[in-house]
Amino acid sequence: MTQPTIESVLNENRTFAPPEAFASDATIGSMDKYQELYDRAAADPAKFWAELAESELHWFEKWHTVLDWQPPVAKWFDGGKINITYNCLDRHLTTARKNKAAIIWEGEPGDSRTYTYAQLHREVCKAANAIKAMGVKKGDRVGVYMPMVPEAAIAMLACARIGAVHSVVFGGFSAEALRDRLNDGEAKLVITADGGYRKDKTIPLKSAVDAALADNAAPSVTNVLVLKRTGQDINMAEGRDVWWHDLVDAASADCPPEPMDSEDMLFVLYTSGSTGKPKGVVHTTGGYNLYTHVTTKWTFDLKETDVYWCTADVGWITGHSYIVYGPLSNGATSLMYEGVPRPSNPGCFWDVVEKYGVTIFYTAPTAIRAFIKMGDDLPNARDLSSLRLLGTVGEPINPEAWMWYHTVIGKERCPIIDTWWQTETGGFMLTPLPGATPTKPGSATKPFPGILAEIVDLDGNPAAADEGGYLVVKYPWPSMMRTVYGNFDRFRRTYWEHIQPKDGNYMYFAGDGARKDKDGYFWVMGRVDDVINVSGHRLGTMEIESALVSHPAVAEAAVVGKPDDLKGEAVVAFVILDGGFEGGDDLAKELKGHVTKEIGAIARPDEFRFADDLPKTRSGKIMRRLLRNLASGQEIAGDTSTLQDRSVLDKLRGGA
Ligand code: WT7
Repeated sequence: MTQPTIESVLNENRTFAPPEAFASDATIGSMDKYQELYDRAAADPAKFWAELAESELHWFEKWHTVLDWQPPVAKWFDGGKINITYNCLDRHLTTARKNKAAIIWEGEPGDSRTYTYAQLHREVCKAANAIKAMGVKKGDRVGVYMPMVPEAAIAMLACARIGAVHSVVFGGFSAEALRDRLNDGEAKLVITADGGYRKDKTIPLKSAVDAALADNAAPSVTNVLVLKRTGQDINMAEGRDVWWHDLVDAASADCPPEPMDSEDMLFVLYTSGSTGKPKGVVHTTGGYNLYTHVTTKWTFDLKETDVYWCTADVGWITGHSYIVYGPLSNGATSLMYEGVPRPSNPGCFWDVVEKYGVTIFYTAPTAIRAFIKMGDDLPNARDLSSLRLLGTVGEPINPEAWMWYHTVIGKERCPIIDTWWQTETGGFMLTPLPGATPTKPGSATKPFPGILAEIVDLDGNPAAADEGGYLVVKYPWPSMMRTVYGNFDRFRRTYWEHIQPKDGNYMYFAGDGARKDKDGYFWVMGRVDDVINVSGHRLGTMEIESALVSHPAVAEAAVVGKPDDLKGEAVVAFVILDGGFEGGDDLAKELKGHVTKEIGAIARPDEFRFADDLPKTRSGKIMRRLLRNLASGQEIAGDTSTLQDRSVLDKLRGGA
């Protein structure tokens, strides 16, 4: 791990109080109220969550134990019986929400659709019966590899309805990446589409599934359910592949929710780490339902009339928790958008806000920075007056981007919630409550009630104010990940062994460095492990290195991040070639294509440096710190005495 360092935001001390009009109408409308909640939760977290589990969710049977904590194994609401789709759908049907829009979908090219709660319930039940008819049973894993269409959410909910475990794979991942994930989870079924629209092209989802399954390379998969989306030409394998419109449309709309144990697995979602292949983060039912419900309700200060839009893809945790489960559990209207801003349609986000009167808008810093570059005319030409709350997630937001968001989009009227969390945490950990917490540009402010977060050193001792350290959580919370799918040992090693408090307590650590200022505000500085954050997406450097060395030209590779104005970090690959290969633009292009094929375009290196050697310690370990300095053109910082051959640095500095 690298030592967390303090960056430029150390001098950022502007503070923005919640706008009066917002606070006066908010559920949690003052810092006193936040503090009261926070203190009450901290004094007895289990009691706090149990009360909310009772008041906010429907249980078929009540739990016998609120929290069973045998570090690092937590069980929440053990003995309780629940189905998250009952909470997301059925319970709204007996209320005025029955005919309220659950999902508003704005698709490409120009398509749109709305599902009321009653309609969504019906479609989910039909899809659930369809996948049951394909032999999927409670506990089976189902791969979901879909474009951003309502059927992606319907597929997830259909799995949850019958107790199958969904494993959504982002549609931008390659056939190889899909195959790895299907195999790791031993998926029985894959739900996909013929294709999807991305920017001004279509992406060939079904043919990627075919490639992933070719030559019996993912032998657990027996069926593929295919939605017709683009109408592009595809192959349908006899006996294996079934059209959605044949099976789902004909299925019965009567499908009672399977009563799940609170700790039954709800989904697996793969995320990159600093070592090995991506890990399957396991989330279970009751705690996840509760935590995403409560965080959605309070952090977005939801009102019955809100039109809520999170711009993420359902392929990421943000889409799981804050497009699908959190909003629907609250009976909110959740907008799904298939498009992405691009040169041919740079104002598309603001068009969607105007068209649907979006009130809550939640996006990523990388998108905000892209909009800044496109100029203020685009948002200024649209009516954004419906907006009342703005959110950001994915990476630290630079104060300049925060200020632009605040003034140009929010017209200084809308609070900004900067939410720090992870795939592993399931829901928001550090975030302002918009009617209560004064915000500071670049700070995710304070822990959500019930979250005991701290900045510590490697022994678990709290850092002093403004001193950098490791961001940890000291007590279990309901939506924490339960294990790495099929690899409990990796779970323990990755998250629970880096910080070793002397008193033997366990602290959850998932890789970020941060500091806390004198007002108790947290400032997340970024990963301190070998994980890079490109446009809010998490990439393990080792994963990209493995992809590179699988190319015949590459003998050895080391990948690091370098600061990038738009993406947060860009990917720089240092590559040693095998004899007979020549570095240059052609090979760089080929290697980019190779990484795209192995992982997906999101992992494609931005820059290559071909070299004869890499800086290594005498014991042969690559000194990544030096590579990071080189990649960003900085002076070589810190100690280089362990470097085996200093001349390597001079060669690499030249670039290629
Ligand atoms: C990593 C988690 C959680 C949804 C999106 C990414 C970084 C996330 C923030 C934020 C600073 C942030 C962290 C974290 N991160 N949100 N508001 N401020 N950093 O989920 O792929 O699991 O990545 O994203 O480094 O560890 P993920």
